[in-house]
Amino acid sequence: MPSNPAHAEPSALVGQAAHAEQPADAAPQPIGRPVIEARGVSKTYHLDEIEVHALRGVDVAVHEGEMLAIIGPSGSGKSTLMHIIGLLDRPSTGIVAVEGEDVSAMLPNELAAVRNKRIGFVFQAFNLLARTTAQANVELPLIYAGVSAAERAKRAQEALARVGLGERLRHMPNQLSGGQQQRVAIARALVTNPSMVLADEPTGNLDSRSGIEVMAILQGLNEQGITVVLVTHDTSIAQHAQRVIEIRDGGVVANRIVVDRTDAQARLAEYLHEHAGDNAGDHAGDYTDDHMGGLQ
Ligand SMILES: Nc1ncnc2c1ncn2[C@@H]1O[C@H](COP(=O)(O)OP(=O)(O)OP(=O)(O)O)[C@@H](O)[C@H]1O
Ligand SMILES: [Mg+2]
Repeated sequence: MPSNPAHAEPSALVGQAAHAEQPADAAPQPIGRPVIEARGVSKTYHLDEIEVHALRGVDVAVHEGEMLAIIGPSGSGKSTLMHIIGLLDRPSTGIVAVEGEDVSAMLPNELAAVRNKRIGFVFQAFNLLARTTAQANVELPLIYAGVSAAERAKRAQEALARVGLGERLRHMPNQLSGGQQQRVAIARALVTNPSMVLADEPTGNLDSRSGIEVMAILQGLNEQGITVVLVTHDTSIAQHAQRVIEIRDGGVVANRIVVDRTDAQARLAEYLHEHAGDNAGDHAGDYTDDHMGGLQ
């Protein structure tokens, strides 16, 4: 992507207010309607006598089809916000609206139904079941959804093929690299056909190449129309998104469009070129262009 001389600051997150006019080469402004909104959301944890104010009056809207990064230092409230946006947790005050509808009055099982239908989650630590094959891990959400065994197997295999792991169905997590385990976790998030994927530090436990591969998958899913919300403390990872919301001490301090967005597929090609001949074999089953068939 061409660099924009008008924005030549050294920061990886060169940007501007999300509402400002865009330069010609900027990523397109998110124009989808808001699918999930947090309005005036606070979250206070009570630990013994101590109150921890993890979020203090946050307003965030996630727009349909966008790729949004939530960035901030450790302890700033990113995961807390992601759990609230993902309907895994409720705010102490403020409201969360899905498609404009306030969900505060929903019962836990109603909330779970909305979540399971719409949202897939990916976490830093993969959260796969050990001693369980890749395919069985991916089938798990479908068991909860009451899908038949034959249909589960078919959909899990399709989801694994989509992340380039069609040849690793029977591998256990400990027989897969970290990057492959995270791709199994992404397949598990996709198997229910969610319209949104929320990923909390998805590259945090990965080497740089596997991190690029995971970002290529997330960008590919976004290009297919899936809304992606990515939580990270890493500006170079956030640079893959279209828009960045920065939080500090539980409050939003910036909301900007990403200029000079990183294209992970191009970055992967560069990486492979730079490291041609290094450690051949270490990355067997890697995510390369050969696997993009499922994503295009
Ligand atoms: N269950 C909990 N009980 C008490 N305090 C909590 C709980 N979860 C989070 N906190 C506190 O809330 C604040 C925000 O935590 P959160 O996990 O959202 O931060 P984060 O930005 O995701 O950090 P990191 O980058 O380290 O993952 C922190 O001060 C944390 O200690
Ligand atoms: Mg966190």
